[in-house]
Amino acid sequence: MTVVGPFGLSVRDQALEADVQNGLSAVEAGLLEATKSEVPFITESAQHLVRAGGKRFRPLLVMLAAQFGDPYAPGVVPSAVVVELTHLATLYHDDVMDEADVRRGVASANARWGNSVAVLTGDFLFARASHILADLGPEAVRIQAEAFERLVTGQILETAGPRDGRDPVEHYLDVIGGKTGSLIAVSGRFGAMMSGADDGITDILTQYGERLGVAFQLADDVLDIASDSHESGKTPGTDLREGIPTLPVLHLRARAAAEGRPEDLALVALLDGDLTDDARHAEVLAGLRAHPALERARRDTVRYAEEARAMLAPLPECYAKAALEELCDAVVHRAG
Ligand code: IPE
Ligand code: IPE
Ligand code: MG
Ligand code: MG
Repeated sequence: MTVVGPFGLSVRDQALEADVQNGLSAVEAGLLEATKSEVPFITESAQHLVRAGGKRFRPLLVMLAAQFGDPYAPGVVPSAVVVELTHLATLYHDDVMDEADVRRGVASANARWGNSVAVLTGDFLFARASHILADLGPEAVRIQAEAFERLVTGQILETAGPRDGRDPVEHYLDVIGGKTGSLIAVSGRFGAMMSGADDGITDILTQYGERLGVAFQLADDVLDIASDSHESGKTPGTDLREGIPTLPVLHLRARAAAEGRPEDLALVALLDGDLTDDARHAEVLAGLRAHPALERARRDTVRYAEEARAMLAPLPECYAKAALEELCDAVVHRAG
């Protein structure tokens, strides 16, 4: 048994392990190649976050999904490069939106070079992703375009907030399905599709990716509160500071409104204050870390991951299926 990747997957088959490792190495080479520009400064800014690391979760999912067909089919690695480049581009843009200073344990592009460079580097990465995508055919271009539209819509809906009368938890779930589920669904879909897996299997891996992606974002939102920056490579409490209501906060608000406990109401009042104030921000973060709302959000995360796992049931038994099942636990129990 070998442990593969930052998720610590225990792969019980040497052939699978070799396929995944070889695939991920080829993706690394592809990412460096795709981020080279004739302009040295663009290469520097585009490779800044590539070289800083990251979990490469989406390429890993492409590789595992490709096990249901020919994992060495020519479209597999390029499609993994496309999803990681797209993800990377959204990180450059997201850090501008969130005014984040740290990403993957290094200075964010906006902190280092300013918002304009960060936004334009994100655009450059999208351009390079599109270039690779063009060789994968019109069906792949359409799938990616649809997912990208959903991703951007999710980011915009998060910024806009729920319209009047809309349940905030339903709004939140729509947002995270769009901004994160969409691209993780494409990762499962591309892996299966490019390897030539049949349509039924491709559909299952698409839906699995969508659900897993929601669990992944739920876990990220819990980690924004619960983890320290050493583990996540990001600044804890960024969502709070930016006023983005994630599930732990929504659970707290719901309980405060329904039960009216003084300690909950006090925490909500703090939350509604100026969280650019460091002392207040630290107090809210500590309050949420100890609050049952965080545990409740963790349980919800596990539920979504279990739903993702259940979707795999019709797939033929194999080592790749076992790894995809294990990924459901890994996503929920990760530290960063
Ligand atoms: C961060 O994604 C943004 C989310 C969708 C939660 P990752 O957690 O996959 O970030 P990296 O690629 O490992 O840095
Ligand atoms: C952003 O969600 C997801 C996308 C980049 C589309 P977050 O704002 O929670 O991501 P992090 O926490 O900054 O990585
Ligand atoms: Mg962010
Ligand atoms: Mg986050």
